[in-house]
Amino acid sequence: MQAYVPGEQPTGGTYLKLNTNENPYPPPPALLDRVRDACSAELRLYPDPEARAVRQRMAALFGVRPEQTMVGNGSDELLGILMRSFVDPDDVVAYAHPTYSYYQQLVQTQGGRSVRVDYPDDYALPEDELVAANAKLTLLVNPNAPSGTLLAQDRVAALARRVRGLLVVDEAYVDFADGGAIPLLADAANLVVVRTMSKSYSLAGMRLGMAFAHADLMTGMAKVKDHYNVNRLSLLAAEAALDHIDDMRRNATRIVATRTWLTAQLRHLGFFVWDSAANFVLCRRSEPSAQAIYAALKERRILVRHFATPRLQDCLRITVGTDEQAAAVVAALADIVRA
Ligand SMILES: Cc1ncc(COP(=O)(O)O)c(C=O)c1O
Repeated sequence: MQAYVPGEQPTGGTYLKLNTNENPYPPPPALLDRVRDACSAELRLYPDPEARAVRQRMAALFGVRPEQTMVGNGSDELLGILMRSFVDPDDVVAYAHPTYSYYQQLVQTQGGRSVRVDYPDDYALPEDELVAANAKLTLLVNPNAPSGTLLAQDRVAALARRVRGLLVVDEAYVDFADGGAIPLLADAANLVVVRTMSKSYSLAGMRLGMAFAHADLMTGMAKVKDHYNVNRLSLLAAEAALDHIDDMRRNATRIVATRTWLTAQLRHLGFFVWDSAANFVLCRRSEPSAQAIYAALKERRILVRHFATPRLQDCLRITVGTDEQAAAVVAALADIVRA
């Protein structure tokens, strides 16, 4: 088994960090105040194992019942809980590839079998092949990572109807897109929607994920969840983030505007850029090589993501930062490709 390799988290020096899709804008001041206030003797107490305050807010905001929600230590934990709940040895887990590569380790850990169906170059979802895999669990990242491409909601609904087992829609980036599968839960008892506060909510450091599904699925998943899975400070941060959800939406709107500009600039420099509905763009170029561009950017203390896999080796994934950060990476790329 190969370990998952997360994007670089540099410790020394200052980098313009456009490699792991963090949000360039800080969380709301009121959230930081609440977390600071909670740094008290109360930390000797365990957190609420049922995360009731957060789940009530999730239910009210997203139009579901609290029994249909779960909070995780990042959405990675929720994905792990899904695997532990529903995947036995040799069970098939299907997903289109390239996508979030951590799925491979999550499936392997359970002794499951990954069936990876290739996305075509335009990243249109190969729905028939996915359905034909007859999987216990089908995973869909929407918008997809690293392509940023979006599958329309009616297609997600159709896929939920067609797959034999559960459909898990990983919506880590959905706040930068139009849509979202939570409204489909009313008609799809086999659907699980997973979201994260790491990207749009500017809380990657707090490790917060949210899951939504039929209450019966949640009851099963709760059996394999660590009881105190989310710490006191993170729970408070999640409450505050949902209380101030308009801040998140404002920041997402700014990032979408910067994404439009960045995409146009990259195309102007001769990159092929897939249309992105996320807070990153995937771009391709053969000369100079993506690896060489990655290295030249790093020399200029700009970090982007390069995946040394056959399908992605000529691509770079660039997180959309602020306008100034986008201008800085475009200026550096212009220098590099002209040289
Ligand atoms: C598609 C996708 N799902 C899940 C995650 C994990 O996010 P979290 O920080 O909530 O664990 C990521 C993180 O990059 C992601 O890209």
